Amino acid sequence: MLNFTFKNQTEILFGKGQISQVSSRLPSDARVLFLYGGGSIKKNGIYDQVLTTLKDAEIFEFAGVEPNPSYETLMKAVEVVRNNDVNFILAVGGGSVIDGAKFIAAAKDFAGDPWDILIKGASFENPLPIGAVLTLPATGSESNGNSVVTKKETAQKRGFSSETVQPVFAVLDPEYTFSLPARQVSNGAVDAFVHVIEQYLTYPVNAPLQDRFAEGIMQTLITEGPKALENPEDYDVRANVMWSATMALNGLIGKGVPQDWGTHMIGHELTALYSLDHAQTLAIVLPALMKVQAESKKEKILQLGERVFGVTGIDETIQAVVRFFEDMGVETKMSDYDLNGDSTDVAIDKLIASLENNGMTALGEHGDIDPAKARTILELAA
Ligand code: NZQ
Ligand code: ZN
Repeated sequence: MLNFTFKNQTEILFGKGQISQVSSRLPSDARVLFLYGGGSIKKNGIYDQVLTTLKDAEIFEFAGVEPNPSYETLMKAVEVVRNNDVNFILAVGGGSVIDGAKFIAAAKDFAGDPWDILIKGASFENPLPIGAVLTLPATGSESNGNSVVTKKETAQKRGFSSETVQPVFAVLDPEYTFSLPARQVSNGAVDAFVHVIEQYLTYPVNAPLQDRFAEGIMQTLITEGPKALENPEDYDVRANVMWSATMALNGLIGKGVPQDWGTHMIGHELTALYSLDHAQTLAIVLPALMKVQAESKKEKILQLGERVFGVTGIDETIQAVVRFFEDMGVETKMSDYDLNGDSTDVAIDKLIASLENNGMTALGEHGDIDPAKARTILELAA
């Protein structure tokens, strides 16, 4: 096992009605930026519950954080924070809103252009504390320090990571997920599954406990994910999916083991250029990446097949992964999606140029996915 340090500062408030705990977790002189997305929370009643729990705080609402949150929108929220002495951000939504909150928190006191935090890894000071109310189990953003932001002007999707912007608490109420459209239920299960894969499907380092954690999360997602599509209001199913997605990327399973993240980095370019949903990009890239990296990932692919899917062989395991994505209703080829009219050949040229422009030229646990290999992966995924 590799050396590691582990700390997760997020207090998880899990279950029905836990929103009521939020008021006791706020600073006494709370001036809260209430951050949310396109308005789903107004239809399902979460908005009113948040206002109730914030009744003693000074509230500054900022709506309209879009899926794949944009730098352009988030900078408007930074202005609201700066002009109103906001001292806490409550992010109510999925990964996009929570990631957006992290960028706003980091950008607040940044002297230059805060895009440098994403593009140059620039350091920042005094980030605002964040609380999260999760409405879409998928990214794990509610209890990690990662944030991914898109600059529309340059079609760049970039991330930063700092424990200083990790939420101090996260409300995980499974009932909040009853209103999710099927497409987002599917996206969530696929994204969480691939988070586990990125931290598991590398090479053995004699870390059997991490392997079993990872396999347990994947098995839960494979069995409960399709049930969430069939019975949207089954509380127990939603609860198990929600907890799986949080555990998939709260740091635990990745400790002491090598990590890949190549599927995510190639996938981000597909979202930046063609606005595909994050999980759709992962379903496209992962099976092809498994084929191209089959030799170096051989032992873990076989273990995944045997322990999680009950199949033997590399090809059979890759097919089982594809079947899971298809069961969840997520298509696995570039040609299944609208690429703004580009042919897959043209798209691949643009994607490779973009990977190079963003310095993503040595991906994977061995740093061996160079642009030529990334091209092979995308050609297989076309
Ligand atoms: O904006 P509203 O109206 O709220 O609608 C949202 C949005 O349209 C809707 N939604 C969310 N909860 C709902 C709901 N609709 C009905 N009922 C509910 N309860 O779902 C749509 C998608 O939301 P979004 O937040 O974009 O989805 P997701 O949670 O999948 O987040 C995706 C973003 O997170 C990043 C992705 O790259 C992408 O930008 N990621 C963040 C990570 C992290 N912080 O660790 C890791 C991931 O790999 C990922 O990169
Ligand atoms: Zn992801």
